[in-house]
Amino acid sequence: MKSTLRHAAGVDQLQQLDELMVCRLDRGRRTVTPCTIVIFGASGDLTARKLVPALYQLHRDRLLPQPVRVIGFARREKTDASWRAELFEALQQFSRSKPVDAGEWQSFAAQLSYCQGDLADPAAYERLARQIAAAESEPVARNRLFYLAVAPSQFGEAVRLLHQAGLLQRDAPAPAWQRVVVEKPFGHDLASAAHLNTELARFAHEQQLLRIDHYLGKETVQNILMFRFSNAIFEQLWTRQAVDHVQITVSERGGVGARGGYYEEAGALRDMVQNHLLQVLALVAMEPPVSLEAESIRDEKVKLLKSIRLVRPDGVVRGQYFAGHRDSQLCPGYRQEPKVKPDSNVETYVALRLFIDNWRWSGVPFYLRTGKRLPLSASEVRIQFRPTPHVLFAAECGPRLAANALTLRLQPDEGITLRFNGKVPGASVAVRPVRMHFGYDTEFGAYTPEAYEHLLLDALAGDPTLFIRRDEVETAWGIVDHIRSGWEERPLTDREFYAAATWGPAAADGLLAQTGHAWRNPEPVT
Ligand code: BG6
Repeated sequence: MKSTLRHAAGVDQLQQLDELMVCRLDRGRRTVTPCTIVIFGASGDLTARKLVPALYQLHRDRLLPQPVRVIGFARREKTDASWRAELFEALQQFSRSKPVDAGEWQSFAAQLSYCQGDLADPAAYERLARQIAAAESEPVARNRLFYLAVAPSQFGEAVRLLHQAGLLQRDAPAPAWQRVVVEKPFGHDLASAAHLNTELARFAHEQQLLRIDHYLGKETVQNILMFRFSNAIFEQLWTRQAVDHVQITVSERGGVGARGGYYEEAGALRDMVQNHLLQVLALVAMEPPVSLEAESIRDEKVKLLKSIRLVRPDGVVRGQYFAGHRDSQLCPGYRQEPKVKPDSNVETYVALRLFIDNWRWSGVPFYLRTGKRLPLSASEVRIQFRPTPHVLFAAECGPRLAANALTLRLQPDEGITLRFNGKVPGASVAVRPVRMHFGYDTEFGAYTPEAYEHLLLDALAGDPTLFIRRDEVETAWGIVDHIRSGWEERPLTDREFYAAATWGPAAADGLLAQTGHAWRNPEPVT
């Protein structure tokens, strides 16, 4: 339909009309000022794969402040030139604008320098301070963004030593600003997260601390709020009266690969549920905030997380993949992955049934699941509506008459699909589900900005909306700690294993069957 219209009216004219309809909300919100960005963990994977490609893209799009400097801090011996060469190589693989433009790279690379040092060594911070102070521009020297892409056990110490070296002050005199971006995992459980929060709070105000959850940087995750609160028709249906249950699936095709060491300490519950899945749930289920201010939105998310009822043991299923075939190739089992104990009990899959004890959602099950080595990588939220009354078509068709469903596909193939029933054309009386689909690509063109671009820009502008507040991270840990305590001492049973490239353990189907439901698996990209 859209394509026919475009053809008739002329693509340009329609694009102009679309543009006229845009209502911009970020004017004046994102002012970035000249600064120094220091990346701790400059030799690491995250820096090469995500942070530098995101900064390069922002540079290309002329979104970085001018002037700006990026200093990489790490233990390995390197020169500015060798660090740049290393990043250039990685960029060719990980940049979303390929091939990398030589001129753009040159001008970007001129802003990069390296500072060799041990994170625990105060003298290294003195060197860093001198390097920062050597900036020609005064704002670049005084405005600082410290990005902690290091092991979680080092967060506290790095912040303490930054403070000690005078690089991070709690009350920097305006207009100077200093902020710290903290990567996940933020803590290991509630006690360690609370301890870390208390430690960081000694050296920085909450407003200076930006705890990252990269899911919040994804366009489609941000769109959940727009979709819910800028469309009257859907918000009317977003209640226990209309919704039968909700499914949130984040499935991953890959296994743990080279991250076995980390994963043995984390498991799917800490790695994915504590942060990404609970964040998506909070956005899907929270009440409308009183304004679009960061604190109003964060207040509502925390309120929602606090309304989650403690999960009972029969509301949780964990799983671990064993070797299995995909396209006639053998995928190793989790216990055969590098750096994984051969008798490991760590979960690579979790499915949960949650209830939210508030006025809107009372009695509505929310099913969450995530796992590695599943058939495909896809993240989606499915709102399953209640069936029609058992008369007319429902009386004739019984359970074969599908209930309406709305699917928010977060990635890949980003879009939203509404499923409803329609008459099959022809002389006979027949009904079947049909789909109404909105695809981001079709509507907006193939534009997939990386989550880190958005988050880095917000960190530079000091907008905390998409970062996790202290009470939020602690509340989420409280939820998962309780779940973990139910299985911690128990070895995995046969029903909890699943073959690689399948949709998880049989017990996960049983979890939904208890309430007469069934998982709807994401569809592959066609
Ligand atoms: C990370 C987890 O936070 O998210 C990984 O540590 C996981 O284990 C990744 O693979 C998934 O992110 P995305 O953006 O690929 O869905």
